[in-house]
Amino acid sequence: MIDRIKVIAIIFVIFIIAIMAYQALTTTEMEKKQKTNMTAHLGTVGEYETDDFNPSVYMKSWNYNDLPSEERKRFYLETNLSDGTKLREYWIYAEDKKIEVAPGVYYDAWVYNGQTPAPTIRATEGDTIKIYFENRASKPHTAHFHGFHKAEMDGSMPHDFVMPGANFTYEFKADPVGVHLFHCHSTPLKDHISKGLYGMYIVDPKEGREKANEIIMIANAFDTDYDGENEIYAVNTRAFWYMAHPIKVKKGELVRIYIGNMVEFDPINSIHIHANFFNEYRTGTLDEPTQFTDIIELGQGERSMLEMTFNETGQYVFHAHQTEFSDLGWMGLFEVEDSDDIINGVNYQSKEFDITNNSMGMKE
Ligand code: CU
Ligand code: CU
Repeated sequence: MIDRIKVIAIIFVIFIIAIMAYQALTTTEMEKKQKTNMTAHLGTVGEYETDDFNPSVYMKSWNYNDLPSEERKRFYLETNLSDGTKLREYWIYAEDKKIEVAPGVYYDAWVYNGQTPAPTIRATEGDTIKIYFENRASKPHTAHFHGFHKAEMDGSMPHDFVMPGANFTYEFKADPVGVHLFHCHSTPLKDHISKGLYGMYIVDPKEGREKANEIIMIANAFDTDYDGENEIYAVNTRAFWYMAHPIKVKKGELVRIYIGNMVEFDPINSIHIHANFFNEYRTGTLDEPTQFTDIIELGQGERSMLEMTFNETGQYVFHAHQTEFSDLGWMGLFEVEDSDDIINGVNYQSKEFDITNNSMGMKE
C-alpha cells in the first residue's frame, strides 16, 4: 500500500515538472514582457525604427534652423528691408509619405516638407512672408495661414486648391502677434487635417519677448485603421516620445511653450503639467496672462502660450487630461536639472538651448 502511494506521488511530481517545463518552453518573449508589464507599463514597447523625424529637434526649431546652413538656404531666405522689417521666403511642398507614429506602427500621411508637424514658420510682426508652395502629392492641397491676409491668399476655396504638380505663391504680412497655425484647407477638410498637413506659425512682437527656453508642441493624433477614430495620440507626432526622451529644462529658468491642437475626430484636447503652475497667454496675442493654472483645454485649431519655471529638480509628467489620450501616447516628461548659470531665466551654457542657432526670429 505504502509503495503504491509512493509511486503515485512520484508520478504526480513528474507530471507537475513536465507541465512547468512545457510552459517555460512555450511562453514567448512577448508574453513574458506582457506579464511583467501588466501593472507597471507606461510608454511604448520597443524603439522607433526610423530617424526621419525627431520630435526633440522639431520642438526647438523654426525657419529650418535645424538644417546645415547650405541646405537651409534651399528652403528659407531672409532679407533685411529698408524699413527695418525682414522679407522671409519659404519653400514648402506637400507630399504623400509613410511616417512612423509609434515604434513599428506606420501611417500613410500627407505632409509638408517630409514631416508632420511641418517645419515651424516664425517671423516678427510687420515682416513680409512669401511662401512658394508646390504640390508634389497625389491630391489637391493648399497652405492656409491663420492671421490677416487678402482673400486671394487664403487657400481655402475650391479655386484656391493647388493641383498635383502645380504651385502657388502666398504673400502676406506677419500679423497679428501670436501663436498661429497653417494647414491645408482642401476638402474633405477632416482628411486633409487628420492626414498631417499642418504646422505652427509664430509671430513675435517687435520688441521681442523675454528670453526663455522655448518649446514648440502640436498635439496630434492618427487614425491608423481609418475608422474615423484615433488609435495613436501624441504631441509632435511620435507616441510617448518624450517619455523616452524627456524635455530637459534647468531649475529656475523661464520655460515658454507654444502649443496648438490639431487633433481630428475628438472635440477637446488639453495639456496638464505636474507639480507646477503656469501663466497662460491664450493665442499669445496679449501682454497680460489670461490665467494662472496647471491645465488648459484646447479645441481643434486653438493655440496658447504657456510660461513657467521649475523650482525643483526631477522628472515631471505632462499629458492630456483626457486620460484615454494619455494612455495612447499623449504623455511626456520634463527633466529638471540643477544649474548654476541661470541669468535672467536663461541658462546660456545649456547645449539644449543654442542661442546662436535659435536667435533667428527672436530678438536678442
Ligand atoms: Cu490637403
Ligand atoms: Cu485653421
